[in-house]
Amino acid sequence: MENYIEGRKFLKSQWEKLSDIKSDQQKGVNPPERFLGYDENNVICLSDFSTLPTRTVLETIKKRTTKRKFKEGKIPQDKLSYLLWATQGLREDKGKYTFRTVPSAGARHSFETYLYVKGVEGLKEGIYRYIPEKHGLIFLKEKDDVLLSKALLNQTFNSQVIFFWSCIPYRMEWRYSIVSHKMIAIDIGHVCQNLYIAAESVDLGVCAIGAYSQENADKLLGLDGNDEFVVYAAHVGKA
Ligand SMILES: Cc1cc2nc3c(=O)[nH]c(=O)nc-3n(C[C@H](O)[C@H](O)[C@H](O)COP(=O)(O)O)c2cc1C
Repeated sequence: MENYIEGRKFLKSQWEKLSDIKSDQQKGVNPPERFLGYDENNVICLSDFSTLPTRTVLETIKKRTTKRKFKEGKIPQDKLSYLLWATQGLREDKGKYTFRTVPSAGARHSFETYLYVKGVEGLKEGIYRYIPEKHGLIFLKEKDDVLLSKALLNQTFNSQVIFFWSCIPYRMEWRYSIVSHKMIAIDIGHVCQNLYIAAESVDLGVCAIGAYSQENADKLLGLDGNDEFVVYAAHVGKA
């Protein structure tokens, strides 16, 4: 039982303790950047998805299940574009913070989205990062199927693309110090739920992946494992 005490503490609210602790925001420290840097010349603009037919919310929620086997063929790029918008797309950029298609505690949005692309129309295979402020992608590196398999603890399936979400905890810690980590865990659930719902509405299937190798997933994406690390992943394929 002692093994669970730290985990249970993490799940409980510690908001009252916040009044004894000054966050960096309260100390007057400047906020961290809300986006990672990138080379503007290398941004791949994603397809328009405004005319994509989608199921109703009612039909979609009724139909949603986890899928682990997918049809052959490539995913149309407008569908991937829709999924990226639905999971991390910008609704409004307020300068110091952003509003997106998903909620986030204090609008801190501490996540980055990486894609392991195996079969998407108009995109070569490889590892990409989503650029929400441009609704585009940056190609990062070639794919590595051996490392992917290690990262996913052999849960490779035959999906066409794998979403990996990393978190940059300081974006949340700057404002919420000790309560940040529970907020981050809640936030990422909203992101993956939007993925399930959006995918189901356009005949794609999702399998959330919580059981992954931290070290190998971070290595796959080139993350330092401390200031940025993977928190969740999801397969997406043709249903
Ligand atoms: C946080 C979380 C982690 C999960 N991790 C995995 C996983 O590592 N591998 C897997 O095959 N399914 C995983 N799943 C999918 C669940 O097994 C699935 O949601 C559950 O069996 C219920 O089925 P349903 O999604 O069809 O309702 C995960 C789901 C969630 C929400």
